[in-house]
Amino acid sequence: MTAQIIDGKAISASLLDNIRHQIKQRTSAGLRVPCLAVILVGGDPASMIYVRKKRETCEQLGMRSLAHNLPESTSLEELLALIDTLNADSGVDGILVQLPLPAHIDTTCVIERIDPAKDVDGFHPYNIGRLAQRNPVLRPCTPKGVMTMLESMQLDLRGKNAVIVGASNIVGRPMALELLLAGCTVTVCHRFTRDLPAIVGGAEILVAAAGKAGLVKGEWIREGAVVVDVGINRQADGKLCGDVEFETAKERAAWITPVPGGVGPMTVATLMQNTLEALERREAGK
Ligand code: GUN
Repeated sequence: MTAQIIDGKAISASLLDNIRHQIKQRTSAGLRVPCLAVILVGGDPASMIYVRKKRETCEQLGMRSLAHNLPESTSLEELLALIDTLNADSGVDGILVQLPLPAHIDTTCVIERIDPAKDVDGFHPYNIGRLAQRNPVLRPCTPKGVMTMLESMQLDLRGKNAVIVGASNIVGRPMALELLLAGCTVTVCHRFTRDLPAIVGGAEILVAAAGKAGLVKGEWIREGAVVVDVGINRQADGKLCGDVEFETAKERAAWITPVPGGVGPMTVATLMQNTLEALERREAGK
C-alpha cells in the first residue's frame, strides 16, 4: 500500500479562507476585527520563526496583531504585569506566550495568569479541564488542528485504536483528550513505555509527537493506518523532518501527513480560529 498524503496546507488554506470571510462579514457589519497579542521572550530561533508566521497570518486575514518582543532578561514579574495589562484590555481577544520560555521564568505561573477567555493556546488549566470533562471551550491548537484534519477525511473515529507517541502538555496529553472525546480507544506512549514498536503496531490512528527525528520506524506502522506526524525537527542539512520515517511509513500507511506541509499549517490556522472564537464568545458573554 502507498499512502495518500493528508495535505495540511490545503486543509488549512480552506480553514483560513473561511475565517477571512467571517472577518470581512464582521467589518461589513461595523463590528471590530479580532486582535491577537503575541509575546516572545528572548531570541530562540525556532520560536522567532513560529511567532513571525503567526503574526503574518493575522495580517493576511485582516486580524490585528500586537507584537511584544521582550528581552531574554525579562523577569517573571515583568511578564505577569504585561499579561495583566492585556487581560484588562477589552480590545485584546487572544493572548499567546510563545513557549519555551527562558529557564528562569516559571511557565505554569505564566499560563495560569492568562485570562482563560483569552487563552487562545488552550493551555490554561480551566481550558484543559473543560476538554477533559467533555465540555471544551478554547482547545489547544495543534490537537484541535489534527482533529480538523481527521474530520476533513470523514473517518469514523469511534472505536478506533489511537496511539499517541509523546505525552507533552502542549500536544500529547490534549491530543489524548480530543481522541477520547471522538470515541477512540487511546494509548499514550512516553519515555517509560515498554515495547514501543508493538504498541505503535496496534495503532489504526497514530499521532507522533515526541519531537525526535525518525523515532517511529516505518516497519512498525500497521498496514492501512492513518499516520499524523506532529514532529518538526531540523536536520544537520537544515531540512525539516518529522518523528516518523516517512519514506518507509508511506509504504504501509493508508494516509500520512508530510513534514513540512502537514500539521504545522493546521496549528497556525487553528490559532486564528481560536482567536475569532474567543472574540465571539466574549461578545456573547459566554
Ligand atoms: N511552542 C511550541 N508549540 C507552541 C504552541 O502551540 N503555542 C505556544 N504558545 N508555544 C508553542
